[in-house]
Amino acid sequence: MEAKEDQIQETPEVKDNGEGEQDEESKKEKVIEVTAEESAKYYDAVKSREEVKHTNKDLKVDFRQLTEHNVGSLKVLLDRTLPVSYRTDFYNKLVSYQRYSKLAYFKDILIGAITCKSDKQKIEKDDEEKHEGVYIMTITVFPKYRRYGIASKLLEEAIKDCCTEWEYIFLDVQENNVSALEFYKKHGFEVSHKRVDYYTNIEPSDSYFLYKKISSE
Ligand SMILES: CC(C)(COP(=O)(O)OP(=O)(O)OC[C@H]1O[C@@H](n2cnc3c(N)ncnc32)[C@H](O)[C@@H]1OP(=O)(O)O)[C@@H](O)C(=O)NCCC(=O)NCCS
Repeated sequence: MEAKEDQIQETPEVKDNGEGEQDEESKKEKVIEVTAEESAKYYDAVKSREEVKHTNKDLKVDFRQLTEHNVGSLKVLLDRTLPVSYRTDFYNKLVSYQRYSKLAYFKDILIGAITCKSDKQKIEKDDEEKHEGVYIMTITVFPKYRRYGIASKLLEEAIKDCCTEWEYIFLDVQENNVSALEFYKKHGFEVSHKRVDYYTNIEPSDSYFLYKKISSE
């Protein structure tokens, strides 16, 4: 989960982002975009139930690109599932770098998402040079739909799109986030080093920096 200048502590706001005002061209597509307000109502109705280990992983999920029409729902999902709240700028940037985000839908409701950006990072703490790669800013799945393999599919999709171009994929995880650490370890990520006070407004403030080599060369 990314921190730095995008990280702020404010009450999440659900904004009218014009999702209801699609132009004639997008109306022709069969894809139904539920508005941010409807997504919020759905999340409230479902409530966060305890995570369960599912034995049947056959949940029919479809994957979509991020667009200006569904970015409002993405904001609601991230505000409900992550300890940080990102500014409007963050979402505007995501829409302009569409390719680096993947969204997971179940019955037209946004239930999971990964957002990434191209970046340069030191892989090991003492590296002299930074390495180019893809930085995972956020990955999340709404609690009811966890342990169905949805985050795994989102990660695979992101890597598939990036592995020809970048050598590494990397990220930070809050040091107490056991689920995320287990998730990334399962996917072959190495825990490189701790970054002290990486997060400024949340506790614990330290992160673990993780990476995985993805280029096929
Ligand atoms: C981390 C997270 C994205 C995983 O999503 P998910 O869809 O449940 O993950 P998957 O079903 O693809 O899990 C794949 C594997 O990761 C590991 N894993 C995932 N969640 C785990 C947990 N709570 N405990 C232990 N291992 C876990 C398991 O090995 C799992 O395989 P299994 O279910 O066959 O045992 C989800 O827990 C989440 O949204 N957390 C809150 C947001 C967050 O903290 N994001 C990371 C920082 S941005």
